[in-house]
Amino acid sequence: MRLHVVDHPLVAHKLTTLRDKRTDSPTFRRLADELVTLLAYEATRDVRTEQVDIETPVGPTTGVKLARPRPLVVPILRAGLGMLDGMVRLLPTAEVGFLGMVRNEETLEASTYATRMPEDLSGRQVYVVDPMLATGGTLVAAIQELIKRGADDVTAVVLLAAPEGVEVMERELAGAPVTVLTAAVDEQLNEQGYIVPGLGDAGDRMYGSA
Ligand code: URA
Repeated sequence: MRLHVVDHPLVAHKLTTLRDKRTDSPTFRRLADELVTLLAYEATRDVRTEQVDIETPVGPTTGVKLARPRPLVVPILRAGLGMLDGMVRLLPTAEVGFLGMVRNEETLEASTYATRMPEDLSGRQVYVVDPMLATGGTLVAAIQELIKRGADDVTAVVLLAAPEGVEVMERELAGAPVTVLTAAVDEQLNEQGYIVPGLGDAGDRMYGSA
């Protein structure tokens, strides 16, 4: 597993406003969307392309377009949904799958309650999106499922990560073709499994529920 922390002033600026508890839900959603677009730009640096011949109004030239099989974007429900638009804006030909996962707030273990994606992901590049890499349990389970279906290149795009979660990912996905891309790695997890300083419960802040 490879970790990539995106170092960019606009990323840091948007993340700071997301962290601020005074930021309301509509602003949080808009900023999360903008931040994902910036992260998606970095996350797709190695997206596969193929050569195409085209004609400009002036003459023939050779360029590239996104290769087949199409990349797959998989938001982890619920909070990952808030990151979907930002990803597909930059990957318009991507297919979208869904993974519904929930963590038990006492044991912090992840379980899957819904899966909607192709059975066979052989040769596919997959972008799995979830705002918070906390304990790592959810993302590890999601990525193991993607690899089991044949995905040969998985990028997890997260807004924020905890060092504990990064460590779990490194241990459980050692040697796997996986990149984790994030705007920041924070200090630690607290006893409730929240990232400190973090930004609180990403789903609640996006959707305004308590
Ligand atoms: N999930 C969240 O939404 N926030 C955290 O801090 C950790 C997990």
